[in-house]
Amino acid sequence: MKNNKLAFVVITTVAIAIVGAGLSLFFSRFLNLTPLADDTISMPQKTVLPPALSPREATPAINYAPPSLQDAPESIREAVLLGSNIIMETGKYASPYSGNKLTCANCHFKGGITQGGKNGGLSLVGVGAVYPKYRKRQNYAVDLVARTNDCFTRSMNGLPLPAESKEMTALVTYYQWISKGLPVYATIPWLGVQPFKSTHTPDKTKGGKLFETKCSVCHGKDGDGNSSTPPLWGDNSFNDGAGMYKAENLAPFAHLNMPLGNPDLSVEDALDVTAHIISQPRPHYSRKP
Ligand code: HEC
Ligand code: HEC
Repeated sequence: MKNNKLAFVVITTVAIAIVGAGLSLFFSRFLNLTPLADDTISMPQKTVLPPALSPREATPAINYAPPSLQDAPESIREAVLLGSNIIMETGKYASPYSGNKLTCANCHFKGGITQGGKNGGLSLVGVGAVYPKYRKRQNYAVDLVARTNDCFTRSMNGLPLPAESKEMTALVTYYQWISKGLPVYATIPWLGVQPFKSTHTPDKTKGGKLFETKCSVCHGKDGDGNSSTPPLWGDNSFNDGAGMYKAENLAPFAHLNMPLGNPDLSVEDALDVTAHIISQPRPHYSRKP
């Protein structure tokens, strides 16, 4: 009898404690006192990027190393390697779509695996992180398929790759792999051409002389290149719809990269020699089916 009474007291006490705790938790939510409520809505206010990814002005040193192609996971390695081959030897690996004697790597040096700047050509590292991207040409956001086809139809004077083709899939996989680890829509300081701030009026005649002394030894006196140097004009070069046909791209490219290995053109010289190159004959861009 005595034991029963004790058990009754214990059970009642425990039950009251449980109900009490439950009720206080329940009401405290309405009062917004539970730490849980706060935790679940709090978002980081600011994303701090490593120095390598902050805007151009604030980047004295950049230490990003893209992953090696061989390290790509087995499931995508074949595509990554085909993408690399297409960029290095476009006429061989994407021959039906390639319309001249250039390869992508003639402008995107080392398959684009560079950090731009002096001797770096036009980098492609990070494009996988910053596309789709707005383009003036289309007045809309374009993805990497459309962007790549702009280079096929203009820089390569060729045909667009079908979006679902093995070759286009390989290129897009390659871009993504060499962009690995870069945050989506980070500011990538080495991408794109930095325009000149110059008021110099280009002198085509002076540019022609510069071409003879500084460029023709490799690119040929008729600008048509040879087996180891790409043509700058003529039937086998980029067409008049290409980015490289615009002085705003060609001049900074030449200033930073030409003569190859030992770029020494002043801004004014680069603008002059560009005016000469642009005045020469080349294929006309026409929209192809
Ligand atoms: C020592 C040889 C050499 C000299 C000199 C040289 N180039 Fe080049 N140039 C090359 C090579 C090789 C490439 C392709 C680089 C690659 O594939 O990695 C190239 C690529 C180019 C390209 C992009 C591809 C194309 O064909 O449109 C342009 C533009 C260019 N050179 C302009 C010039 C200009 C302008 C000069 C003179 C100021 C010049 N080059 C002097 C070897 C040279
Ligand atoms: C004659 C030089 C030239 C050749 C050859 C060339 N490109 Fe380009 N490419 C350019 C220029 C110029 C740009 C524009 C750079 C800029 O927007 O500042 C560009 C931009 C690109 C971009 C976008 C890069 C960015 O920063 O947004 C991709 C992707 C690209 N090219 C892929 C290719 C592929 C793939 C090939 C070969 C099929 C190729 N390119 C051949 C000159 C060339």
